[in-house]
This record gives sequence, structure tokens and C-alpha cells, in this order.
Amino acid sequence: MAERVPIGSDHAGFELKQRIKRRLETLGYEVEDVGTYSDESVDYPDFAKAVASRVSEGKVRRGVLMCGTGLGMSYVANRFPKVRAAVAWNPEIAELSRRHNDCNVLVLPARFIDEEEAEKILDRWIDASFEGGRHQKRVEKIEMDV
Ligand code: RB5
Repeated sequence: MAERVPIGSDHAGFELKQRIKRRLETLGYEVEDVGTYSDESVDYPDFAKAVASRVSEGKVRRGVLMCGTGLGMSYVANRFPKVRAAVAWNPEIAELSRRHNDCNVLVLPARFIDEEEAEKILDRWIDASFEGGRHQKRVEKIEMDV
């Protein structure tokens, strides 16, 4: 059965979301598009919450978010338990976010990368695996009360 991947954006990420959706489908994933569905101005927390809650509750393994800078989406997503959202602006950072930080929400800064680069970032992220080992304890500590 195909892995289901929720994706969401605000108006700034809307165009890129269409491209990322096609790419994920081409790669064989089942995409759950939580919106937004046009370039009309909306509030990014609504879409970040929709994707991050699914990951946090274990309904899906991972998700993808897009907004102008990636920052607003990452702020919101990282408030959810067990969500590790990373803004990635190149493929290497995307890969390391998986290998070292077990990133489960990829956030793309739509106004600062072109669509071709965004696809490369997605491809590297989706294929990379968490290394565990010395990184395991560090990732577990993220969830501890401070
Ligand atoms: C929208 O103009 C922009 O503020 C938003 O997409 C995002 O960059 C917020 O972090």
C-alpha cells in the first residue's frame, strides 16, 4: 500500500505545492492535500496544524509544508509532540535533517528556492533514512521536559 503523505501550504507556497504534489504522486506516494487551494491570502498556522497533527498523532509517518520563508510553518509544526519539522533550502540540509534529526515534516521556503531545486530537496529528503546511533539519544531528548 502506498504511503500517505499530507501536504499543505499558504498562498505563498500554493504554486509550489502543486508541483510537489505531482512529484510525490510520480514517486508513488498517496498525497493528502490539506490546502490551501488557491493563491488567495490565508493564514499559514491553519495548514501547518492540519499536517503536523496527522504526524503527531501517528496517522502518517511524515508530511510536507510550504510557505514564503518556511519559518511560520516550522514554528507551528514544531509545537506538536513528536513533530520534527525542518526548513530545508538545499538537498544536503534535507538529507541531513533525516539522517541526523529524524525529520518528519519537510518545510520548503517557496519564495527562496525555485521549483526544480524544491524537487531535488524533496527527492533527497524522502529517500534518506535516520541513522540512529549517537543521534538516537539526541532526538529522544527533544521530547523531554525542560
Ligand atoms: C506570507 O506572506 C508569508 O508571511 C508566509 O508565507 C510565511 O513566509 C510565514 O512564515
